[in-house]
Amino acid sequence: MAHDSTHDPEALLQDALARVATANDADALRALDREFLQKGGVVASILASIPNLPPEKRKETGQRANQLKVAIEAALLEKKSALEGASLDAERAGGDFDATLPAAREARGSLHPITQVTRELEDLFTSMGYTVLDGPEVELDWYNFEALNIPKDHPARDSQDTFYCDKDGKVVLRTHTSPVQVRAMERIKPPFRAIVPGKVFRQESTDASHEHTFHQMEGLVVGKDVSVGHLIGAMKTLLRGVFGRDIEVRLRPGYFPFVEPGFELDARCPFCKSGCSVCKQSTWIELLPCGMVHPNVLKSGGIDPEEWSGFAFGLGLSRLVMLRTKIDDVRHLLSGDLRFLEQF
Ligand code: DAH
Repeated sequence: MAHDSTHDPEALLQDALARVATANDADALRALDREFLQKGGVVASILASIPNLPPEKRKETGQRANQLKVAIEAALLEKKSALEGASLDAERAGGDFDATLPAAREARGSLHPITQVTRELEDLFTSMGYTVLDGPEVELDWYNFEALNIPKDHPARDSQDTFYCDKDGKVVLRTHTSPVQVRAMERIKPPFRAIVPGKVFRQESTDASHEHTFHQMEGLVVGKDVSVGHLIGAMKTLLRGVFGRDIEVRLRPGYFPFVEPGFELDARCPFCKSGCSVCKQSTWIELLPCGMVHPNVLKSGGIDPEEWSGFAFGLGLSRLVMLRTKIDDVRHLLSGDLRFLEQF
């Protein structure tokens, strides 16, 4: 319907309200909204006509146009909800409506298994007085290797080839969480205890047990007269926390340039008594490299090895998650595949 913008606003309002009242679907309401309220509609053209009116009429016309707009908006809204209510009533009255059906659930995500284990271990270790620390994933060669007693050309570098971020090879993606040991020593006065969960990177040919990106959790305790006994005690507590019961452990000598003596701590296989595929029929699982902090590393961190000693461990978080959840391919962990993640 064409409207003359000089029309009496009251008449316009009555016309609009009558048509809203007889509109019987959402399309009709939308058409009325366009005709009266949108750009180029009735209200807009009244407002556009104001500059041509005699000055004494301008204010009143503006106010009336606004009242018109507000009244029509309210009527449209009310009619819209009435129509929706009616259609719901009609649906309920039909034979297919079952008020006892559960409502559709909103899909919720879940924590990644690595995050779950990390949080559990953080709870466990903070309850024993450890601080949770963080460190950079893009690390200086100094912290990743040199300060950890791994000079250039040291054979230990071969097993931890990485991604180099600059031409001189001074900046690398960290290959382990151990560099945070030295960063911690620089920042925190001994005695202290800390864990460092985080992401690490290696230049690997990937397969079921090798991935270029994986997770570790470093542990470091520095104090007076810290001994191998303290180390074993802490490791047993860790395993009890992870597997929910006491687990027998054994220490074998292991070589890592930043500890002396260094150990491989094996845990009795939690899944079998006489050998299974997880422990490769040996009943032992190689789980936790660890050792007493090398005096050179304490020195790198500015700590006097004559006065202080410490132990450190490097838990393979990815490996631990694989063990706990019996995942046989490490590449699942960072695949981002929902079919995998939704199982946790
Ligand atoms: N950083 C070593 C690695 O990634 C693991 C490790 C071994 C950490 C012995 C330690 C340790 O703290 O004491 O292979």
